[in-house]
Amino acid sequence: MSYLQFKGKHLEVPIIQGGMGIGVSLGNLAGHVMKEGGMGVISAAQPGYRDPNFKRDPFSSNIKALREEIKKARLISEGNGLLGVNIMVAGQHYDRYAQEIGNMDIDVIISGAGLPLELPSLVKNEQVALAPIVSSGKAAYLLCRRWFQRYMRYPDFIVIEGPEAGGHLGFSWADLKSHSEQKLEDIFEDCKKALEDLGQNIPLVVAGGIYSGSDIASYLKKGAAAVQMATRFIATYECDAHDRFKQALIDSSESDIEFVISPSGYPGRAIVNDFVKLMRTQRIPPLHCVNCLKPCNPPTTPYCITEALINSVSGDVEHGLIFTGSNGYRLNKIVHVKELIDELMNEMQVAMR
Ligand SMILES: Cc1cc2nc3c(=O)[nH]c(=O)nc-3n(C[C@H](O)[C@H](O)[C@H](O)COP(=O)(O)O)c2cc1C
Repeated sequence: MSYLQFKGKHLEVPIIQGGMGIGVSLGNLAGHVMKEGGMGVISAAQPGYRDPNFKRDPFSSNIKALREEIKKARLISEGNGLLGVNIMVAGQHYDRYAQEIGNMDIDVIISGAGLPLELPSLVKNEQVALAPIVSSGKAAYLLCRRWFQRYMRYPDFIVIEGPEAGGHLGFSWADLKSHSEQKLEDIFEDCKKALEDLGQNIPLVVAGGIYSGSDIASYLKKGAAAVQMATRFIATYECDAHDRFKQALIDSSESDIEFVISPSGYPGRAIVNDFVKLMRTQRIPPLHCVNCLKPCNPPTTPYCITEALINSVSGDVEHGLIFTGSNGYRLNKIVHVKELIDELMNEMQVAMR
């Protein structure tokens, strides 16, 4: 079977493993997802955090690490699957990162946490596909119109991320708290309508809360080209996070997962641990700012998101921020990526019949 076609390429498994920063999805996880025929995605959010020069020159450390992680993923994949890098629009030096990454050995740049309105002007390499992440039909319409008016092109595919996702969420705090935000199914229908209005047939990928093979089947039946899943890939041996990070999700219950505010200005979803409890009662001043997010103001930020995410991914889980999708508490054991993808594909095939 072939899914999500772009630039003469396709996926054999309709799953994109969503980019997870900091350091949760690097070359090991991405490569193993690719090996099974899916798309692996490396997060460009501070992948060089372990480099000795990281604090002095984060940009160079991150670019060096990305090249190494891409090489590693390609090697592990044995030539299967496709490879993407996820870049956050809200990240500092977004333009420089996009320019550099656009010339790396990848199939696609996936970009969200803000609308990547200028992305086509930054990536000149025509081999690299471009895929924005949106959270509404309006954003999909606006972005497509802008890309066509300015750059005479459309996205190669669009990722639609709903409110059940992990990481930063493209919804207002008030809407999330009052449960009045739009649901993924409705955003998907709005995006389909927006593309119809534009007369464009751009592949759509849905993300946020996709958990089982039957979830995948239900979106394929509705016309999605693939799904993007992240939280389920955390509970794999191959995930690049520390084992304690994975275990924190396995040990969590539904009531442990709540919305948190990020210095990016976007809400996020995380496990309520000692760090989150402390951050809600007092400011935690940054120890060393690496200038990671455009919207962050270091002298007033409630906490440093880079420090908090590096702590958790490195295993200091009580002093760090553990992002998760709304389904994080459903994870109950660590499996191999191959087992997970086989299970999802079997369930999907049963549900497609
Ligand atoms: C730990 C974690 C970190 C994430 N980091 C990023 C990120 O750096 N950039 C981004 O665009 N999305 C990020 N996401 C969102 C995922 O890529 C994905 O779209 C989303 O979580 C899908 O929903 P699911 O986790 O319910 O499958 C993150 C998600 C998680 C769970």
